[in-house]
Amino acid sequence: MVNGIIERYRDRLPFAPGDPVVSLGEGNTPLVLAPRLSERAGVEVWLKLEGANPTGSFKDRGMTTAVSAAVREGATAVVCASTGNTAASAAAYAARAGLRCAVVVPEGNIAMGKLAQALVHGARVIALKANFDAALTLVRELVERQPISLVNSVNDFRLQGQKTAAFEVVEALAGELDAVCLPVGNAGNITAYWLGFTESGRRPRMLGFQAEGAAPLVRGAPVEHPTTIASAIRIGNPARWEEAMDAMRSSGGTVAAVSDGQILEAYRFLAGAEGIFCEPASAAGVAGLLAHGAQDARRVVCVLTGHGLKDPEIAVGNAAGAISCEPELSALERAVLQ
Ligand code: F0G
Repeated sequence: MVNGIIERYRDRLPFAPGDPVVSLGEGNTPLVLAPRLSERAGVEVWLKLEGANPTGSFKDRGMTTAVSAAVREGATAVVCASTGNTAASAAAYAARAGLRCAVVVPEGNIAMGKLAQALVHGARVIALKANFDAALTLVRELVERQPISLVNSVNDFRLQGQKTAAFEVVEALAGELDAVCLPVGNAGNITAYWLGFTESGRRPRMLGFQAEGAAPLVRGAPVEHPTTIASAIRIGNPARWEEAMDAMRSSGGTVAAVSDGQILEAYRFLAGAEGIFCEPASAAGVAGLLAHGAQDARRVVCVLTGHGLKDPEIAVGNAAGAISCEPELSALERAVLQ
């Protein structure tokens, strides 16, 4: 039997026994201590590996709830705007539920793994000649006109599902944590974590990090043309702006920016020194911790929101290449020992 977050946390989610559940066994992801990162940051750091979800990102927590609710309401189709992960997750859960799915992504600006997922699960993939913010505005208008269920994080069921990651962190650390570092894009996830922590009676500082070229919350104004190599968080006008700012303020946290260089450095450090491969956007939280610190925290959780395999182009483009070798022992010896 598939045992996902709705089954595990039904008493804290808006689902009654007997309601339809569309699940791929999401949640229950590893929380691992990061000794080398802890040493570098001067604070005990734990990593929440959300890339271990069924489609490789935290979106699955919110998609099981959003798609289950859509089925309960009798929907036959779902739609989302996405920088890639929401699209991949929506496509998978829609396939599971037997719903039609359309995903609207910024043309040329989504990572290859995510595009592959949306396509292989049979979603209608629409490459919009615009950025994510324009795509979200359009799909919000579309669902006013058509009987299609919107599964972006403007849908409250998404936040309900995503708050379960905070429950897991509280359980794993017996509630003993001082701060949480998160990358911030459309600002749904940091809002959902804060919801989950407050429902658990905990108030860790919420530390949100945006990429320098896509940092509306840091600047205090929308960014018309957001840019960053971390395509997942290339967002200039977050839908959950107010709620996210409230989460950071109420928890005594902050929002700050990190450069693409800092993101890539953290990304390589996690892979090379901790054995953990996350996607670039996910490394923004760790880059933020390293660049800005965590105030007086003793124990910090960094949420690694998506798996590194989502974006093979960035991975290969930022690593030493493979070494070509003739099929002879001496050549192999040289290549190995070089
Ligand atoms: N990390 C990853 C890997 C993401 O895909 C996203 C958002 C975020 C962080 C930021 O989360 O938007 O809740 O603040 N991805 C969305 C998408 C926008 O379409 O897949 P957020």
